Amino acid sequence: MNAELGQYLDGLAEAHARQPGDDLISGLLTDTGAHAPMPREDLLSTAALLLVAGHETTVNLIANGMLTLLRHPDVLDRLRHEPDLITPLVEELLRYQPPVQMLTGHSALTDIDIAGTTIPQGSPLTLMLAAGNRDPHASPTRTASTPTAPTTSTSASPTASTTASAPRWPGRVTGGLA
Ligand code: HEM
Repeated sequence: MNAELGQYLDGLAEAHARQPGDDLISGLLTDTGAHAPMPREDLLSTAALLLVAGHETTVNLIANGMLTLLRHPDVLDRLRHEPDLITPLVEELLRYQPPVQMLTGHSALTDIDIAGTTIPQGSPLTLMLAAGNRDPHASPTRTASTPTAPTTSTSASPTASTTASAPRWPGRVTGGLA
């Protein structure tokens, strides 16, 4: 957490300590459980974690998702007529344009064999989630680069094309944003 964010959250905690409300920080400050009160340092790091892990991801999923739908009005139109498709569509938008595109700071706990290559234990890892989401070896629907329309059927879609240019609806609900 950088100093500026730390100061901001500390000020927020002070204000909530003076006047607790019906909110998470007030709850953490006024909790009377076995391990209460939560040390201020832990409270600040929890607030920072939730702000970044919970808020940024959700905001970016909504923004990426809306942009994708505006770029693919056929999918948006289908959703308007079949609102029950919202759940598979959100899943597909998470695949197609994920808010977290890559992860750093991980390392191999043991030797890992992948496709004939051994990643030695202890190696630093950068996980390319967005690329994995479009890996045609993992799922035939994962190469798409634009959305099509989902169905609520549970059969896998054999129709995915590696040349598709729109998001597809997920294979497990069939179709997928291509
Ligand atoms: C669209 C929404 C979200 C996405 C795409 C997302 C994505 C992720 C990813 C990829 C990780 C793994 C990070 C890593 O291994 O380095 C993660 C971890 C985590 N997320 Fe989310 N997340 C979302 C929403 C949330 C929300 C709403 C919260 C809490 C309010 C949250 C709290 C956390 C926490 C605490 C971790 C760390 C877990 C751990 O250390 O094991 N996330 N999230």
